[in-house]
Amino acid sequence: MTPSVLLSDPEKRIEAEAAGAVEAAPELQLRIRGLRKSYPGRGLVLDGIELDVFKGEAVALIGSNGCGKSTLLRCSLRLIEPDEAETSFLGHEVQNLRRSALRKLRAKVGFVFQKHNLVLRSSVLTNVIHGSFARMPGFQVWSQATAPKHIREEAMYCLQRVGLAHLAASRADRLSGGESQRVALARALMQRPQFLMADEPVASLDPRVGDEVMDLLLGLTRQEDLTLLYVSHNLDHALKFADRIVGIQKGQVRLNAPANTLSTSALRELYGASDDG
Ligand SMILES: Nc1ncnc2c1ncn2[C@@H]1O[C@H](COP(=O)(O)OP(=O)(O)OP(=O)(O)O)[C@@H](O)[C@H]1O
Ligand SMILES: [Mg+2]
Repeated sequence: MTPSVLLSDPEKRIEAEAAGAVEAAPELQLRIRGLRKSYPGRGLVLDGIELDVFKGEAVALIGSNGCGKSTLLRCSLRLIEPDEAETSFLGHEVQNLRRSALRKLRAKVGFVFQKHNLVLRSSVLTNVIHGSFARMPGFQVWSQATAPKHIREEAMYCLQRVGLAHLAASRADRLSGGESQRVALARALMQRPQFLMADEPVASLDPRVGDEVMDLLLGLTRQEDLTLLYVSHNLDHALKFADRIVGIQKGQVRLNAPANTLSTSALRELYGASDDG
């Protein structure tokens, strides 16, 4: 066993980790402290959120309608400006970043929304290629016709990862809801993200397809060594497709526990009083 004195001495700990004597401490990829956000006419929505997400984790964020889950996700990248927050994301102090650095940080985070936001008149392959915008700005990646060969090949690979390579040439408006969300996932992979955020990614899918897409989302997170933070109103999904569940109530984190220690009834307690309005 590793003597505890080793663990308390940072240099010795690093040597011991290198020698495989102790497990490396998990990397903290997202650390939010004191997040407050109010909206005009609504008042305070988030009132001192504290949240840590470690590399490789899948974390489900739950809470009643209007409690501020989407606001929290967006504030973490300043897609919405928080009133106050200290946020460290992938090693960057988000509150201090200028516009171009913020853009670079956002490019490392793949977003998947309930609405897939595909360009409906374009092909599936073109939609996936659009995922490379952030790292390859320019007209070339507007379309599969102008994209360089290696980008087309990478987009095909991303489509394979979501099981839809055979639909590459189809127009996006021909796809089912489940297929569309898989394409949105392939587009997010095309970003080569380090972190995935998903806001109710399967809310508009039927139960079977919703399960399949959640399974895919978590599977890709594991295979690609990513980190996943997603919002869900489906408590079974939160229990099945997350390592940890974080519950928001009245603007604060009221639940933060490993999924395998929780049950549906424990999670339901979070929904006692509405946070909406
Ligand atoms: N731009 C805005 N202006 C005013 N109020 C807003 C704005 N955006 C969100 N709100 C309000 O802030 C609260 C939190 O909204 P948010 O969308 O973050 O909640 P949520 O937990 O994601 O809800 P849901 O589960 O319904 O998606 C809600 O009461 C919402 O009406
Ligand atoms: Mg929401």
